[in-house]
Amino acid sequence: MNDNFLRACRGEKTDYTPVWLMRQAGRYLPEYQEIRAKYDFMTLCKTPELAAEVTLQPVRRLNVDAAILFSDILIPLEPMGIKIEFPEKGGPVLTSPEDMNQFKEINPEKDLPFVMETIKILLKELDIPLIGFSGAPFTLLTYIVEQGSSKNFLKTKKFMYGESKQFHKLMELLSDTVIGFLSAQIKAGAQAVQLFDTWAGILTPRDFKEYVLPHVKKIIGPLKGNVPVIYFVLNGGTFLEYIKESGADVIGIDWRIDIGMAIDRLKDGVAVQGNLDPCELFLPEEKLFERITDIIKKGMRSSIRGHIFNLGHGILPETPVEKARFLVDSVHEISARLRK
Ligand code: CP3
Repeated sequence: MNDNFLRACRGEKTDYTPVWLMRQAGRYLPEYQEIRAKYDFMTLCKTPELAAEVTLQPVRRLNVDAAILFSDILIPLEPMGIKIEFPEKGGPVLTSPEDMNQFKEINPEKDLPFVMETIKILLKELDIPLIGFSGAPFTLLTYIVEQGSSKNFLKTKKFMYGESKQFHKLMELLSDTVIGFLSAQIKAGAQAVQLFDTWAGILTPRDFKEYVLPHVKKIIGPLKGNVPVIYFVLNGGTFLEYIKESGADVIGIDWRIDIGMAIDRLKDGVAVQGNLDPCELFLPEEKLFERITDIIKKGMRSSIRGHIFNLGHGILPETPVEKARFLVDSVHEISARLRK
């Protein structure tokens, strides 16, 4: 088993800088498009053989150092009593019961058995670690309150400021859901987990600290020590110090902050994951190679516990597959050479 990814998470020596790509399974891959033409997205997520196959596609193509379970952050909301649709165009659409008190507590093994079955299939196939994941409670809450994606998240902020008791109550319910869901994935065999907090970066640092951080700490606390926990906040560069307080083993960063500056601010005790702009994959190879080298060199600074190379957010559907492969090969080649 190639365990460079897990070793980097734990701050142990690695042969090279491990790399995987957020959203590495998906529409930029022709073999994904082929399966997707036959099944809708939810069917893919809920059919273990299909979800496992789609998880493996980028592993075969790209030679990445970790696989991420194919699913979606919104999947555990369905058994809570929320209707979720993924229309062919535009973002997801959610319909929730009027009364928040009607949300149900979920039992992951009973309500989402297909996720654990997918993990079990994958463990037999993979010789790299499998990452499980969940949406973080605030990001899940925004999808519930906004009934989908949003521009300025006014409904979420009105709810947070105007009905803060109810807000925290929903955050608590979602946190319990996340703890149960991630624990079930770990029990099934996931070797690391990532919490995606795509929308926490819309908050002021003060509001992140007051409304989000206590809940995330409560989730990470019991999971830590089990498997490495990665916490990724899109747009979180302005309050990295607070993000570090979450207790995560690895902090994911987007491309809006220089990774060297992020490392200086994170200080010791955590590893860092990131941070190439997904659009940089559209640079000519020579220029891209320079950017990759710069990130790797900064990631090798001794003040940080470890570095996992990744994009700063999901790979774009328009990305040429060869460019993604070039990225992974370059990370391996450059970082192995720099270690000599
Ligand atoms: O390869 C992987 O990374 C694993 C699978 C994965 C998906 N979604 C598959 C997916 C993961 C980890 C996610 C996380 C996710 N989903 C996030 C957090 C990360 C991020 O990107 O910020 C969020 C916010 C979602 C919610 C979501 N799912 C949206 C807004 C959309 C529509 C927009 C889009 O990108 O298509 C989805 C759909 C989705 N999730 C697709 C995939 C492959 C596209 C579905 C399709 O084939 O049409």
